[in-house]
Amino acid sequence: MSNVLELIDLVTQFSTKKGMVPAVRGVNLSVKRGKTLVILGESGSGKSVTLRSILRITPPGAKILGSILFNEEEILTKSNNEIQALRGNRIAMIFQDSLSAFDPLYKVGKQIEETIISHQKVTRKQAKELVIDLFRKVGIPSPEERVKVYPHEMSGGMRQRAVISMALACKPEVLLADEPTTALDVTIQAQILKLFKQIQTEFGMSIVLVTHDIGVAAEMADDIAVMYAGKIVEYGEAKQILFSPEHPYTKGLIAATPKKGQKGELITIPGQPPLITNMPKGCAFADRCSDAISSCHSENPELKEVKPKQHAACFLVRQKKEMITI
Ligand SMILES: Nc1ncnc2c1ncn2[C@@H]1O[C@H](COP(=O)(O)OP(=O)(O)OP(=O)(O)O)[C@@H](O)[C@H]1O
Ligand SMILES: [Mg+2]
Repeated sequence: MSNVLELIDLVTQFSTKKGMVPAVRGVNLSVKRGKTLVILGESGSGKSVTLRSILRITPPGAKILGSILFNEEEILTKSNNEIQALRGNRIAMIFQDSLSAFDPLYKVGKQIEETIISHQKVTRKQAKELVIDLFRKVGIPSPEERVKVYPHEMSGGMRQRAVISMALACKPEVLLADEPTTALDVTIQAQILKLFKQIQTEFGMSIVLVTHDIGVAAEMADDIAVMYAGKIVEYGEAKQILFSPEHPYTKGLIAATPKKGQKGELITIPGQPPLITNMPKGCAFADRCSDAISSCHSENPELKEVKPKQHAACFLVRQKKEMITI
């Protein structure tokens, strides 16, 4: 059993004025045990909604369809109590918005202590020590003092580190990390990514990491999934995706990343992704793709293997492959 988590045809719909509208439109992903899957994609592509769907943290009226298997067990049919027992314990999440992670009325250290005590058999004293130790590991200076402050008394970066320590507190089997280091300066970022790797090696933790930073992806990923307009458009082994991308959108994303020492203007992908309430009939990227052919506008390409360990959802890639095979 090498996959700790599997998303099968995941669809997450929101209730809007235009009716039920899908923000995630049939996502298939596997998270390997002890490995890191990075999800890349522009703003609004559905990365956060995908991660939140795994823990069933969606607003009222939202619907999650398909299947989410955690250690081969269906998450979508679990009771609220069962899912509550998984959250923060076996599957932890670092939310994109760190402000919402803590209750403003309680001290930060106390809140992390409570999480530990609710899921693990430890005394209050041991939990207190664990929190101080975690604060030290995520680079919070004077941890003995910092555990006693309220969330609003911490700077944004400090609070983000406290959020990270809360997520790691129960040594989860899966860590869902949504832009965990974006707000932090580079040295702290490097320290935290190193800590993730360390915990991963020690406890076999699997990580699903959402980032806009291709450098972070290159540093962390075993596998990469590229999301666009609620779908995975390219998926596979990290080095394949980074060094020989096939989907025009992935190529655009990578070309839009500044290289070390690069001078001059960056190439950007022209246009905007479609709104979820106004999805085109065919490939959602077709309007921005300079190579689009007529079928791109009328049909939706499925994710198919284009090279060993690399899948892309693109008619052009397949056409090119067929021409090479002939
Ligand atoms: N509660 C909601 N109701 C309706 N639509 C929503 C809701 N939450 C998210 N969406 C929509 O779902 C789509 C995906 O949003 P999501 O937050 O997953 O994007 P993202 O890829 O995480 O973007 P970013 O990089 O900016 O964080 C967006 O179009 C967003 O407007
Ligand atoms: Mg997001």
